[in-house]
Amino acid sequence: MLALETSCDETAVAILRENRSGRELLASEVASQVTAHEKFGGIVPEIASRNHLIYAPQLLDRAATAARTGWSEIDAFAATSGPGLASSLMIGASVAKGLAIGFGKRYLAINHLEGHLLSPFFGAEKDGDSDIKPNVSLIVSGGHTMLVVVRGLTNYRLIGYTVDDAAGEAFDKVAKMLGLGYPGGPEIEKHARGGDSKRFDFPRSMLGSENFSFSGLKTAVRYFLPKIGVIPSEAQRSRETPLNDAVTGTSGSLDFARDDKLLSDICASFQQAIIDVLVTKTIAAAKKYRVDLVTICGGVSCNQELRRQMRDASSRNGIEFKSAETWLCTDNAAMIAFAALLRLRAGFESQVTEEIDPNLKLA
Ligand code: KG4
Ligand code: ZN
Repeated sequence: MLALETSCDETAVAILRENRSGRELLASEVASQVTAHEKFGGIVPEIASRNHLIYAPQLLDRAATAARTGWSEIDAFAATSGPGLASSLMIGASVAKGLAIGFGKRYLAINHLEGHLLSPFFGAEKDGDSDIKPNVSLIVSGGHTMLVVVRGLTNYRLIGYTVDDAAGEAFDKVAKMLGLGYPGGPEIEKHARGGDSKRFDFPRSMLGSENFSFSGLKTAVRYFLPKIGVIPSEAQRSRETPLNDAVTGTSGSLDFARDDKLLSDICASFQQAIIDVLVTKTIAAAKKYRVDLVTICGGVSCNQELRRQMRDASSRNGIEFKSAETWLCTDNAAMIAFAALLRLRAGFESQVTEEIDPNLKLA
C-alpha cells in the first residue's frame, strides 16, 4: 500500500507491506513546510499546494528507493481525501489517483481523522478486525479536538467536539503570546518542565459537557499576561529589553530572561488546564459508554505530560490506555497507509471519480 497525505502543510508518503508474516513499514517520508509559512503567521493555502506539488514527486522517489519497491509491485494507492485544505488535498489525491490509473491498481480515499484514530493500533498483529478493539478515542491536533466511540473499523460515533478552538490551536496561540516559536505545543511542553502547574489558576471550560471549548482559556491567558507585566504577542521583546520600559503591569515589570521560573510556571499552569479538561472528559466518556480502552492521537498527543496523566487516570479507573509512538502522532502518511490497508482488507475500495471533501466528517 502506498499512501499520500497532503491535507495541510505536511507532504508525506508511506509504503506499508502486509503479507502472511505480518506488516512492515517499508518507507515513511515527511516534508514539513513550517518555515515556508512561519513568516506569514499561518498557513497560506496556495503556498502549501505549490510545495506539495514540488515535494510529492521527490518523496515518492525517496520512498520507493527506501522500500526497494518497483512501482508495479504496489497493489493499491491511497490518499487523504479530507478534511483539510481543498487545494492541498487535491494534490495528494490527484497523484494517488494518477498512479492507480497508470498502473491499473486500486485507489482508496481515506479520512484524515480515521488515519489519526487508528494510529494507536499501528503495528498491532494482523488478525482481522479484532485489530481495532472498542475504545474511546481522543483526537487532539491543531485542527481538531474530538471524542469518538470506536466499536470497530468504520464503526465510529462522534460524541464530543470543540465548539471553538482546537487544543493544539490553543497551544499555538498561547505560545505566540509568550513569544515562543511555532508549533507552540512542543515549545510550551519544553518550558513547562519543572514549572509549578498550580501557580496560576486558568479556567477549565465546559467540564460538565462532552464538547470542548478552549477559546476562553486562550482569552484568560491574554488578559492575565498584562497583569503580570507582559504584553501578549510582544513578550519576545521582554527577553531583549527589560519590560518596565514598555509596560507597567499591576505586579510590576517582567523579564522572562531574568525570571525563567515565571515562564515555566505559566506554561505548566496553562498546559495543566488543557490536560485536566482532556483527561476528565475522556475518562468520563469511557465510563459512560462502558468502554475499557482509551486511546489518544493527533499532534497534541505527543505531549508526554498528557500521556502520563491519561495513563494514570485510566489505570486508576481500571481502563487500558494506548497511544501511538510520537512520530505517528503528528501528520504522516503511515497512518493513512495503515487505515487504507485495514479498509482494503475489509473489502473497501474507492472510485477514482470520488472527490476530495475539505469538510469530510468522520461519522
Ligand atoms: O496532528 P497535527 O500534526 O496536525 C493537525 O492535523 O492539526 O497537530 C499539530 C498540532 C499543533 O497545534 C502543535 O502545537 C500540537 O499539535 N503539538 C503539541 C505537541 N506537539 C505538537 N501540543 C502539545 N504538546 C506537544 N508536545
Ligand atoms: Zn492531523
